[in-house]
Amino acid sequence: MKKLRAKILGTGRYLPEKVLTNADLEKIVDTSDEWIRTRTGIEQRRIAGENQASSDLAIEAAKMALENAKVKAEELDAIFTCTCTPDMFFPSVSCLVQAALGAKKAPAMDISAACSGFIYGLATAKSFIESGQSKKILVIGVDTLSKLTNWKDRSTCVLFGDGAGAAIISAEEGESGILSVYMRADGSEANILKVPAGGSKQPTTPEMIENNLNKIHMNGPEVYKLAVIKMVEAAKKALEIAGVNSRDLKLIIPHQANLRIIDSVAKRLDIQENATFVNVQKYGNMSSATTIIALDEAQREGRIQRGDLVELVAFGAGLTWGASVIRW
Ligand code: UT7
Repeated sequence: MKKLRAKILGTGRYLPEKVLTNADLEKIVDTSDEWIRTRTGIEQRRIAGENQASSDLAIEAAKMALENAKVKAEELDAIFTCTCTPDMFFPSVSCLVQAALGAKKAPAMDISAACSGFIYGLATAKSFIESGQSKKILVIGVDTLSKLTNWKDRSTCVLFGDGAGAAIISAEEGESGILSVYMRADGSEANILKVPAGGSKQPTTPEMIENNLNKIHMNGPEVYKLAVIKMVEAAKKALEIAGVNSRDLKLIIPHQANLRIIDSVAKRLDIQENATFVNVQKYGNMSSATTIIALDEAQREGRIQRGDLVELVAFGAGLTWGASVIRW
């Protein structure tokens, strides 16, 4: 029997309407457009509405991906949503998406790996398909980090944005598909990027809210340093597993957290000129959603054609990191 590959049949995205510019942030905290641009490359970000939860963004992205892939929701036989900002502890975002789409035969579960979420989701889909468990899988990357942002902390509130991206992954014959996935984690560095309270360790109390412990806490410079080292490691390992050369990549899509991190990673890899995709200026860091939204944009802008080699690489809280090489 021929080995079936996990192939991306179609992608979609959804960005909330509300745009928050650097000029808007200047009015909220002691910051400047100049500082944000030069230190991060970010110019604006999208913010979910008060009544918009992660599942609302995810459902829109999923519908667009289904249409792009020409697949019906009833054909899906698994749904994985990668997110660290679920609507609630349970049920999962994936179950809410499953109901909204009417994907009757799809089991549904969430994957929590912060900014590396979509890579972990791709790896799960690849394994389900290659083992014969599933044939058509919806993988979503969604986060609404604005809901966990401390708008008084200038060192974090300028960095994040909200969004959702989705991919339909199918069992197909042929050369196109996910060639490799590499993933790692290091929980000993959990403290450098976390939301300390609001979970089972420190349930919600008025004091906890007063001290913003239910919001994002980050040691920026430490995360920055490790992000560069680990993304370079992951990018090289995934290429090695796929048995392809970095010079053959048409496009590399790094996690979009900071333009300086993206440039440092690109400089350390032997890739072609103009092979790095960047959209951090428009959206900021959307955690699990960044790589899949970028892949959707790149595809629709014609920057990748059938047969091209693309690599996704990400790093995030956990710590988690990983990369995937795809033949489009
Ligand atoms: O997806 C993974 C998650 N996150 C990341 O990948 C983010 C990784 N980290 C970063 O991107 C960078 O570390 C930051 C953008 C967060 C910070 O950039 P930095 O070059 O590492 O700056 P810094 O934290 O060392 O701060 C430099 C200065 C400080 O002032 P002093 O102490 O030198 O006087 C900060 O107080 O910049 C100050 N600062 C700001 N100034 C204006 C920090 N945030 C701001 C701000 N506006 N928003």
